[in-house]
Amino acid sequence: MERVYINDLKLGSRVALNISAHGRTIVTKGTVVTKNIITILKLNSVISVPIQSTDDRVDEIKEELMTYDEPFSSKLDKIAKTEEYKRFAKDYIQKSIEVKQAFNDVKNGDLEGAKKLSEDTLEFIKQNTNNSMLDFLSILRNRDYSLYEHSLNVAALTSLFAGWLNLNETETTEVTLVGLFHDIGKISFSEEMIKNEYRLPADRELEIQMHPLYGFKFLKNSDLPENVKRGILEHHEYVNKEGYPRQLGMNEISPYAQIVGIVEEYDTAITRIPYKHTKTPFEAIKELEDTWFEKYNGQYAMTFIDRIAQSYLDSFVKLSNGAIGKVTFVNNNNKSRPIIKLEDNTFIDLSERKDLQIIEVF
Ligand SMILES: [Fe+2]
Repeated sequence: MERVYINDLKLGSRVALNISAHGRTIVTKGTVVTKNIITILKLNSVISVPIQSTDDRVDEIKEELMTYDEPFSSKLDKIAKTEEYKRFAKDYIQKSIEVKQAFNDVKNGDLEGAKKLSEDTLEFIKQNTNNSMLDFLSILRNRDYSLYEHSLNVAALTSLFAGWLNLNETETTEVTLVGLFHDIGKISFSEEMIKNEYRLPADRELEIQMHPLYGFKFLKNSDLPENVKRGILEHHEYVNKEGYPRQLGMNEISPYAQIVGIVEEYDTAITRIPYKHTKTPFEAIKELEDTWFEKYNGQYAMTFIDRIAQSYLDSFVKLSNGAIGKVTFVNNNNKSRPIIKLEDNTFIDLSERKDLQIIEVF
């Protein structure tokens, strides 16, 4: 068996082992390589393929099959197979169902649902607040967008972010609750309207912009801390007074709202949502870098950008010229353009190669 680079594959050769991507087999052992097969492999970002060589002795092949671990798979593919991830994903999906139920209860005036959800979700997030959670969320984010999963993502990311900002336990709990409930006001709108949020006519868009106010009203009489209610109300205010609904300025926006505002923007940018361009994490980091000084608290934004960019170390990326490599170093003064190590062990410093873009992270 020999390992052949995808661009050097010969038509008619035979694949020596099952090839997996994203947790499933895409080409089985023994398959004859055709143009179609090469297209499938490329679409799944396979870099090299184990090929049967005719002069290999059968027992040598058997030996390799016994010791061969698995074909190339990305960082996230490997994580997706771990027990830790599978446990997290199961709980996460269950939690998103509970978020939906509780949001609807609150909409119907039953505030007990919010209380129970707060306790259970805080427990779930507390148990899972470590850097693996970022990878777990990246895998789960490939599912279809829903308000409930977005709420969970923002709560989980906010909890991590609170740790990066060295907030104390009470502050971490409270700001995580702002993350969980920040968009609850959107439950006032139909699922159809939420799903089509990015292609609504201007008047309906203005209606959506009322969601922080609606969320605040829903929870006004709950026993959530006042700081949490205020955070929900102000999470779309920007320090340049161009946010909504009240156009507050830097010293008027609550710190919790400033923190959750950054997390919400990031999560929304990299999530697949109908009629909206899905950004790669590096595009989202670039956008935050370009706008943080006008929209956000600079200290918070810088910490977030730095930690998020570092979390993509060792991730595989596809570049706009088709090359695939691994993120090996985050440039301090240009965090959205890291140094990439290619398959042939050469390096590309994207801060010096503005002609190249990261088009996929996996
Ligand atoms: Fe929002």
